[in-house]
Amino acid sequence: MPKTGTKARPAAPKKASSDKSDKKNAAPAPTKSAGGSNSNGSGGTLEVIDSRTRKEYSVPVADCAIRATELKKIKTDDPDDSGLVSYDPAFLNTASCKSAITYIDGDKGILRYRGYPIEQLAENATFLEVAWLLRHGELPSQQEYDQFVHDITFHTYVHENFRKFLEGFRYDAHPMAMLNSSIAGLASFYPSARNIFDETERNISIVRLLAKTPTIAAFSYRHVKGLPFVYPDNRLSYVENFLSMIARMSESKYEANPVFARALEILFILHADHEQNCSANAVRAVGSSHVDPFSAVSAGVAALFGPLHGGANEQVLRMIGEIGNVKNVPKFIEGVKSGTGGRLMGFGHRVYKSYDPRAKIVKRLADEVFKVVGVDKDLEIALELERIALSDDYFVSRKLYPNVDFYTGLIYRSMAFPTDFFTVLFAIGRMPGWLAQWEEMLLDKEQKIARPRQIYIGPKERQYRSKLSAK
Ligand code: CMC
Repeated sequence: MPKTGTKARPAAPKKASSDKSDKKNAAPAPTKSAGGSNSNGSGGTLEVIDSRTRKEYSVPVADCAIRATELKKIKTDDPDDSGLVSYDPAFLNTASCKSAITYIDGDKGILRYRGYPIEQLAENATFLEVAWLLRHGELPSQQEYDQFVHDITFHTYVHENFRKFLEGFRYDAHPMAMLNSSIAGLASFYPSARNIFDETERNISIVRLLAKTPTIAAFSYRHVKGLPFVYPDNRLSYVENFLSMIARMSESKYEANPVFARALEILFILHADHEQNCSANAVRAVGSSHVDPFSAVSAGVAALFGPLHGGANEQVLRMIGEIGNVKNVPKFIEGVKSGTGGRLMGFGHRVYKSYDPRAKIVKRLADEVFKVVGVDKDLEIALELERIALSDDYFVSRKLYPNVDFYTGLIYRSMAFPTDFFTVLFAIGRMPGWLAQWEEMLLDKEQKIARPRQIYIGPKERQYRSKLSAK
């Protein structure tokens, strides 16, 4: 790959900025386009002179973006030069798709599903209403909603073979490992789901995934606890049924604590989608090979498991446990700042460079749950961590604020969920988002199999000479 010597020539008064604050703000920032740009920067061209060849190029700008494939045209006279590529490890400033599902403004702390502010949905909607909205783009009518709830309720049971499948896991298996492999395993029960361009097949697969994920999650929980599996109770709502499969013992009908049920419903809504995050990207990338949706979504579960993504809620509680006492917080913060103590889990976000709007709602929710069960003993440590971090220059200058995972763990624990189950709760909530992203990707005519480029930095061709003694 020839060395890049390309130079943008902005005709607009403002020069394209590359200062440190811009670099830190990894949210795709509008391109400062050049000549002919609309006042909102959404059209025009980017005029480029390649200093290696003095050739000039006019790169079209649309939706504040240039197409990376346009860069291919920028090449030297070397016949081996296949043109420029954009190098963007971890997609810091690359849009991989156009999406109409979720809007985030990370600087202003705005999150909207299909245009609706997250605060309004969390306050007023049900989780299944949000699931419908994410997929269809509009809120359901009463008739659509009733049918949807009926379909989901109807499909909550899993094949009896799942019992044997889950029994094969060790007593201490991580529930995310069980969830991940079980969701992938669903593909073996529904082979017709591979007909992904048949709308009826897509519908039923989506319903099955939304309906069966809480059942599989609850079965995993009961397996680890050594408790008998509780079958779905179709008289209950989505969240109440999940709580029933988790907690029911000998009672004939389980009655969930209404504060817990509503808190969990809100947490599911808050987690339902988050545009092109690591797991949605995994679902899209795997789905782009046209595999069935169960396999594609299991890739999302796998991505979510990681501690930098959905696994962070579990790590927050482990971190607080290690801190142990509020008086140890300053020492812990010093360790984070010096790089000797790991990261402050539940803080920071690739997109939010202000308070995560979900974290604000979760914090209020935590107060409501604590009113019922009493204040969590670790809340004092969490509040002190937050207080120090929000006033310390290390965190302030890097725009590190509490994210959604900071307080969710405290709520889950006060509801008696074990720590390693927290990410499973995130996965149940995120399922509608993965499915909406998967379907949007499939129906997007511009999408093809996801296949990034690389910049090869390995050895040049060399001859094979065995180093094994036997040869
Ligand atoms: N504690 C201490 N320092 C941090 C943290 C943190 N939690 N997060 C970022 N930084 C520092 C980082 O060291 C870097 O400093 P410097 O510029 O001196 O090298 C700077 O802030 C920028 O960090 P980054 O790693 O470039 O940021 P990123 O956008 O790649 O990472 C993140 C985002 C969420 C992975 C990261 O903030 C993090 O590891 N947070 C802790 C894990 C966590 O809470 N994850 C849940 C995210 S929200 C739920 C979800 O959507 O998954």
